[in-house]
Amino acid sequence: MTGVLNGRVAVVTGAGRGIGQATALLLAEHGARVVASDLDAGALEETLALLDGRGTAVAADLTDPDTPPEIVDRAVREYGQLDIVVNNAGYTWDGIFHKMGDDQLAAMLDIHLVAPFRLLRAAAPVLREAAKRDAAQGREIFRKVVNVVSISGTMGNVGQANYSAAKSGLVGLTKTLAKEWGPLKINVNAVAFGFVQTRLTAETAEAGTFDRGDRQIPLGIPAQVREQAAARIPVGRGATPADAAGGIFLLCTPWSNFIHGQVITVAGGQAEGMSY
Ligand SMILES: NC(=O)c1ccc[n+]([C@@H]2O[C@H](COP(=O)([O-])OP(=O)(O)OC[C@H]3O[C@@H](n4cnc5c(N)ncnc54)[C@H](O)[C@@H]3O)[C@@H](O)[C@H]2O)c1
Repeated sequence: MTGVLNGRVAVVTGAGRGIGQATALLLAEHGARVVASDLDAGALEETLALLDGRGTAVAADLTDPDTPPEIVDRAVREYGQLDIVVNNAGYTWDGIFHKMGDDQLAAMLDIHLVAPFRLLRAAAPVLREAAKRDAAQGREIFRKVVNVVSISGTMGNVGQANYSAAKSGLVGLTKTLAKEWGPLKINVNAVAFGFVQTRLTAETAEAGTFDRGDRQIPLGIPAQVREQAAARIPVGRGATPADAAGGIFLLCTPWSNFIHGQVITVAGGQAEGMSY
């Protein structure tokens, strides 16, 4: 299957580490050239080294309105096209609802909803023009948008009212764009991850902080919550970043051309609805 994405150009946000890095590498392994973007220039350098000539890096804050157009411009200038957009960048800023500040809500909406909106709006002319050219030439080529959401957004999660509201908003954007862009053969889907082993889900003492530039935001979850989380997953463990990237990759291949406007849960079978 190596080479299934030959000739494709992908943008992956939050590609400096975790799920985004694993996705960038998996797409490249299967032939895509990747525009890898992240706020953390040091982490992004590692990804670029691992991409080994199959990508280019844009180190910038995705919540800056200038960044999404810069990422799209890079794809077009460097590779002449754009076929796949993976909206993955993000972090958590947890807290119990009745103590949650406006800044906590705004931060989550900015990175998980506004930034994907702006990146897709910036990508729209490139994706749509290519689709129209294909149609005029009688070719049917599917392009792909994959938005990373969370079962916190689809099922709710204690301590994440801000995060789950933002991810749930991204589900609405996904479904609307799927209706608008379906005729152009641009698949728009979301993957809802459960527990993935990254710094977001590391034990509080070890997870460190997200350096947003203006402040340090503590990441991670308490040990007891971690243990309970793992016990609720039917396959018996949390996903690795590579497991998670597999779910995204599936939605970037031609085998998913008729999966459209869907939220695919990639959570090892975890599907607990309103139970804790
Ligand atoms: N880890 C999980 O269990 C889990 C579960 C569900 C959903 N998710 C989602 O998966 C995505 C990736 O998370 P992860 O677990 O790999 O986390 P991670 O911290 O390992 O990686 C996220 C990357 O996004 C980057 N980023 C954050 N804010 C940014 C900004 N403003 N501009 C540019 N880059 C920015 C970070 O620098 C980081 O490198 C996130 O959207 C997250 O909400 C994760």
